[in-house]
Amino acid sequence: MQVINNIKKMKSLLKEVKKTGKTVGLVPTMGYLHKGHLSLIKKARKDNNIVVVSIFVNPTQFGEGEDLDKYPRDLERDINLIKEMTDYVFTPSDKDMYPEGFNTTVEVKEITDKLCGKSRPGHFRGVSTVVLKLFNIVRPNRAYFGLKDAQQVFVIKRMVKDLNLSIEIIPCPIIRDTDGLAISSRNVYLTSSERKEALSISKSLNFAKSKIEKGERNINKIKSKIIKDITANPSAKIDYVEILDINTFKEVKNIDGKIIIAVAVFIGKARLLDNIILEVKK
Ligand code: PAF
Repeated sequence: MQVINNIKKMKSLLKEVKKTGKTVGLVPTMGYLHKGHLSLIKKARKDNNIVVVSIFVNPTQFGEGEDLDKYPRDLERDINLIKEMTDYVFTPSDKDMYPEGFNTTVEVKEITDKLCGKSRPGHFRGVSTVVLKLFNIVRPNRAYFGLKDAQQVFVIKRMVKDLNLSIEIIPCPIIRDTDGLAISSRNVYLTSSERKEALSISKSLNFAKSKIEKGERNINKIKSKIIKDITANPSAKIDYVEILDINTFKEVKNIDGKIIIAVAVFIGKARLLDNIILEVKK
């Protein structure tokens, strides 16, 4: 495994790789790697000849007052975790990615106006811009993203389609701790009592799923129950609970077809995302 910390070197190495006809899988990350990232890397390893993992805490996707400075970082630990599974770790600097005079952004419209895009204005502009830059640097055949950030996957797929990029986007399932909590780098912000409270998120989603499977179709009732169960915990504050069509990412009017129930919840200092996807037959 090689650690590459500048764009020019990464581009030229991968240009040579591509000449040999090898396929390249990219796993974009912001580091502080966990089991969720490892599952993406394993999948990329299975599907491709060469695996590139980028580690870059992208400043442009953080809003004012958000956790950019506090975001957990430990490059040495990350490299040790993935050195057997990865060919290249790409760790560009802020200055290399956003040099003086940088003035171009990519904006996927409409679907970024809601959910995380509404709570974090400009967030998806930062995400799509950095992801397009990574795609241009690495030129992967495939790129891997976790479904915990379901809206991010949807936004990136839209960008790839709209801009005619020849990259296959591979969404990968949410990885959970044994107690059900969706794994996230931001879980380190939770105190032990907050972590217990956070379990209400996956529990309430599973309860909603079982109610729907038993025939519940009232959207308001389903949402209210999720909100009630989560906010029964003193540190929890709901950001959103939405039920969307998985293909259009629009709020559903009826519980029918392939849907996603997506939630964002503040617990203490952490803003946690989770969701559940289900196929509902009339
Ligand atoms: O999901 C993330 O970790 C980030 O949003 C990504 C895709 C690496 C872009 O900075």
